[in-house]
Amino acid sequence: MKRSIIVGNWKMYATSIADAHILTTSIRNHVADIKDVEIILAPPTIWLSEIAQILKQSRKTRLAAQNMFYEPDGAYTGEISPLMIKEVADYVILGHSERREYFSETDLEVNEKVVAAIKAGITPIICVGEKTKGSTIGQPLKELQEALAGISKTHHKDILVAYEPIWAIGTGKNADPAYVAKVVTKLREVVSVHTPILYGGSVNSSNIASYADRPEIDGVLVGGASVRAAEFVKICKIWSETKSLQPRAKEVK
Ligand code: 13P
Repeated sequence: MKRSIIVGNWKMYATSIADAHILTTSIRNHVADIKDVEIILAPPTIWLSEIAQILKQSRKTRLAAQNMFYEPDGAYTGEISPLMIKEVADYVILGHSERREYFSETDLEVNEKVVAAIKAGITPIICVGEKTKGSTIGQPLKELQEALAGISKTHHKDILVAYEPIWAIGTGKNADPAYVAKVVTKLREVVSVHTPILYGGSVNSSNIASYADRPEIDGVLVGGASVRAAEFVKICKIWSETKSLQPRAKEVK
């Protein structure tokens, strides 16, 4: 069966450990019975160890870091290495447009990080997306190709891709699901059938069903709505229910 994945990117929200605690516990308790969807939380890195403890008994919910450095160790003040992330999380978000914009991350750095994540046994969630609505899909395609430079196809099952058009992030202007399906189909030419491709950009409980309806889209990367527990749980439930109404996707060989 095709995988279904929902990632909550908390960005730099949940600014106290108490808030992070309440949010995690509430999500953990309410998603336990949701079927056939993998749930991944990406809290601020400083909360990862604490949250890992809260999720210890939960087989449903996994953890992601929001970023990492590519060197395994060394004199890099303020950075966090793949080996450190590996201790507490299974996934890492890489190449998010906010990192590219505010921290000047280049395609080459994203590629180095993807290589380092795979080497450390962490699944990268590679974010790509164009800046302007209506532009060609050249930018996300190029970003994905560059992120995967030098990575053999055998590793494509070890990565996740998130198509996040920048104009849709945090704007309330989510991309049309038919358009997303078209872009995803194009991105799929670069990766393998085993690579889940998600959509991100103003996803909420009102529009989630329209993405779940599209067999091309394997999940969503949720930002703002992921730090509101009830809303995030609702997104996960609607996704699961909508997918369950569709004919079962065939086993991918
Ligand atoms: P919003 O859901 O807030 O638009 O953010 C999307 C995003 O950037 C997830 O990584």
